[in-house]
Amino acid sequence: MSDKLRSLDDLFEEQLKDLYSAESQLVKALPDMAKEARDPRLQQAFDNHLMETKNQIARLEQIGRGINAKLDGHTCKAMQGLVAEGKETIAEDATDEVKDAALIAAAQRVEHYEIAGYGTAAHYAQRLGHSQAAELLRQTLQEEQATDTLLNNLAKNYINAKAM
Ligand SMILES: [Fe+2]
Ligand SMILES: [Fe+2]
Repeated sequence: MSDKLRSLDDLFEEQLKDLYSAESQLVKALPDMAKEARDPRLQQAFDNHLMETKNQIARLEQIGRGINAKLDGHTCKAMQGLVAEGKETIAEDATDEVKDAALIAAAQRVEHYEIAGYGTAAHYAQRLGHSQAAELLRQTLQEEQATDTLLNNLAKNYINAKAM
């Protein structure tokens, strides 16, 4: 992120690059999370979100083409850290039930990070008059929110109780 930021347009592009890097890292991490999950509902949730994440990357690429911006070449350091913590969780010596609870704790941190990023980017897009981009970003935002809610419900209704 060495380019000078002169306008909300520049900042919008920078935020898109950050999201693009975050999603690209996640696409590599989610299969490991799914493989590690023991509860079939949790496994399914990770598998479904992997498919959604691939589509979210396609949306970002579409937005990038629309504004003539190349989105690669930047690394989202926050997602690097979140993925590293997820890997620590996977490596931890834990019972199946506690491992599932820990995987959810790690995954919800990721979803909240994405929700913050997409909420911001969608508002910028709207403000800048990129209405199609704003719509695509809101679609992704809704998927991230739905994933967070699903993980929350799995934890509260099943997994945390099993981990006690
Ligand atoms: Fe995502
Ligand atoms: Fe997500």
